[in-house]
Amino acid sequence: MKVLIIGSGGREHAICHSLKKSDEIKSIFCVPGNAGTQSIANNIDLDIANFGLIKKFIKKNKIDLVIIGPEKPLVDGLVDFLEKNQIKVFGPNKFASQLEGSKIFTKNICSKYNIPTAKFGVFKNKINALEFLDQSKFPVVVKSDGLAAGKGVYICESKHQSRKAVNEIFNGKFGEANQVLIEEFLNGEEMSFFIVSDGKSIKNFGTAQDHKKVGEGDVGPNTGGMGAYSPSRLENNQLERKILKKIIEPTLQALKDMGVSYKGFLYAGLMIVKNEPFLIEYNVRMGDPECQTILPRLKTDFFEIINAVINSKLDQIKIEWHENKSLSIVLCSIGYPENYRKNKEIKNLNKINLVENEFLFHAGTKVDNSKIFSNGGRVLNFVAVSDSFKKSRLIVFKLIEKLNWKHGFYRKDIGFKVIN
Ligand code: AMP
Ligand code: GLY
Repeated sequence: MKVLIIGSGGREHAICHSLKKSDEIKSIFCVPGNAGTQSIANNIDLDIANFGLIKKFIKKNKIDLVIIGPEKPLVDGLVDFLEKNQIKVFGPNKFASQLEGSKIFTKNICSKYNIPTAKFGVFKNKINALEFLDQSKFPVVVKSDGLAAGKGVYICESKHQSRKAVNEIFNGKFGEANQVLIEEFLNGEEMSFFIVSDGKSIKNFGTAQDHKKVGEGDVGPNTGGMGAYSPSRLENNQLERKILKKIIEPTLQALKDMGVSYKGFLYAGLMIVKNEPFLIEYNVRMGDPECQTILPRLKTDFFEIINAVINSKLDQIKIEWHENKSLSIVLCSIGYPENYRKNKEIKNLNKINLVENEFLFHAGTKVDNSKIFSNGGRVLNFVAVSDSFKKSRLIVFKLIEKLNWKHGFYRKDIGFKVIN
């Protein structure tokens, strides 16, 4: 099998790493990839927005299967385009990807199928939104509709903050905006819940908790994710049944009722309030860094799962997990998520000798003249798996200290709810 992976983050490096273990995989290509994927795959420098060029490459190199990591190409319809060209691809199509691409699309499904979520209103102009805020109780959550890479969501403690949020969104901070969403604030604990679907059946694909805020103690602006641990401390059979029955199954049914079956990973961002799940958002892919954190716990051959989805045979396999605790920490460029510098050399990578259950996945890195440089805000992901979260975190700390990269910073409190 020749597989091509779209993306360049830690998630895609972790996917490459897992695929590599399968005997079925002969070669892996990564578009565009990073310095980490380059050591196991062939990085191909193509613009992932240029579907035509990607197709040409796939046909010329006789690629058997494409796996899409990030949301943008999914939302833009890369799956539909490749399938139309008889290319096998893992991921949901453009219609289904609206679950992530449009918060309002998802909210409408929630209303119609009684899926528990925060109460909300959709406002098509600034005046109506501001009028609504005049009568609201705070906090409220103000959201732009489309993709905003983890930004575009404002938790507002006061009328002043919420008015500012509405103004920024309608003034185009996240691209042209025709509507905003104003939501009730849910007070609970967050959980990332993953399933994989082949359009006919679904299987659980692990749980995790991500730390989205940049600062220790979960403060400061949102980021793509500063570190995660898996499994979530909230995981239990009763809650899992509720999530499937009240949230996942009705969502997939809604898509079916609109004539679409869901293929790929689905990531439900949940707020758990007194053991009851509420949907905050869907992502139509694995999370990053949740993917890097969850995959090391997977016992089943990863490619077997991908292959089962492609061939609509997911019901014929069993997905098994190790009973251990995985924790990841993201090493970021100083300044992230605001302005940060790129092109800083990462020197001590050769000093990192990983043993079993230790992983280093690259995110924003690139190779230049045999040297490795930073190339993004989130640069490296260190992951360790052991019999306790505390131990896993200590292992990760040691690895990061050994690297001693002076242009980076990281949160030292990842997993604070499950450690101490
Ligand atoms: P989203 O991009 O919709 O996942 O929102 C980003 C983050 O904002 C979430 O991970 C939550 O921490 C927070 N958030 C979003 N919506 C709500 C809500 N209704 N109540 C409380 N927190 C929320
Ligand atoms: N870690 C959050 C996300 O992947 O959206």
